[in-house]
Amino acid sequence: MQIYFAPMQGVTDAPFRRIHAARFTGVAKYFTPFISPTQTDNLTNKELRDVSPKENAGLPVVPQILAKDADYFIHTVRRLHDLGWSEVNLNMGCPAGTVTAKGKGAGMLTDLNRLSFFLDDVFTRSPLPISVKTRLGWERPEEIFPLLDLLNGYPLSELILHARTRRQLYGGQAHTELLDDIATHCRHPLVYNGDLFSSEACLCFFESHPAIGAAMIGRGLVSDPALAQHVLGGSALTREALLDYHDALFAYYMQHFQPPASLGRMRELGKYIAANFHGAAKPFRQIRKAKSLETYLAAVRLLFDEYPLRDPLGFVTDGRPAGQAVTDDLCDAFEA
Ligand SMILES: Cc1cc2nc3c(=O)[nH]c(=O)nc-3n(C[C@H](O)[C@H](O)[C@H](O)COP(=O)(O)O)c2cc1C
Repeated sequence: MQIYFAPMQGVTDAPFRRIHAARFTGVAKYFTPFISPTQTDNLTNKELRDVSPKENAGLPVVPQILAKDADYFIHTVRRLHDLGWSEVNLNMGCPAGTVTAKGKGAGMLTDLNRLSFFLDDVFTRSPLPISVKTRLGWERPEEIFPLLDLLNGYPLSELILHARTRRQLYGGQAHTELLDDIATHCRHPLVYNGDLFSSEACLCFFESHPAIGAAMIGRGLVSDPALAQHVLGGSALTREALLDYHDALFAYYMQHFQPPASLGRMRELGKYIAANFHGAAKPFRQIRKAKSLETYLAAVRLLFDEYPLRDPLGFVTDGRPAGQAVTDDLCDAFEA
């Protein structure tokens, strides 16, 4: 049973990964938010910093690339290889309209012929093993089977599957009912991703799907940073550990970002942190709407001083149905 930290653009950057890994155990791999090469010889300074060995010292990191052009992809893999990384991940699942309209992310799932040319090329030339993060398909869940037939022909190091189609975005139910058939068809180590928000849900998932040895978790782990540690038999989240995690993130962003950027970053993180508290709709809203660092901190103080942690813990939001909240969060993030 292994747990990976999912990539989340604007959240799980290198400082976040360091702060998390210094405090909590259980994450076997951290995936970087996607690098999106647009010219053969260019990564932005921000992208380079996020994958620099210094910023990620001692962390088990897998850089993720979003590209549909094999030359751009390979050029980026070579740079990552030169930096010392030992594996890369190909993003074939991002559902954002701005991404799929360019034929990237989940947009790669609309034409399996074109995808096979891309994969032939990158698997021939890549100096590093490649894992793939994808969805069931574009329109219908059953599209996963022809996709698997194609992917089975390449030496993927792992296949990470978000069990929704692109059409679903992040709404509706993940199609976990297909997972056992998928595991039978898939020749690669299979990693499940989607909606694992509590240690109970994770343990139940692994028990129900013994053929799947690893899960990638995003929002659940940002919210409860001790989730992987707890699932693997370590201690559950405490209020003190959560406050220390919050304060370390706050101190880092205050020191390194301009105030509006640190406020934006902390409002996003604070929303996940607030989801651990019972009945905390008021501070949750105050955190989301805070216009200054002072009002943000006052809302966080109210949260930690006045509200109990949920029992059992689990990522939920301020009373909105889970599916709705999930969709809103992801659409906001991707369309930003
Ligand atoms: C704010 C945000 C940013 C994301 N950025 C990325 C990304 O850069 N690359 C990627 O493959 N997925 C990205 N995702 C999707 C997550 O990696 C993950 O697949 C999704 O949140 C579902 O998993 P979860 O239910 O455990 O959160 C992002 C999700 C969120 C909420």
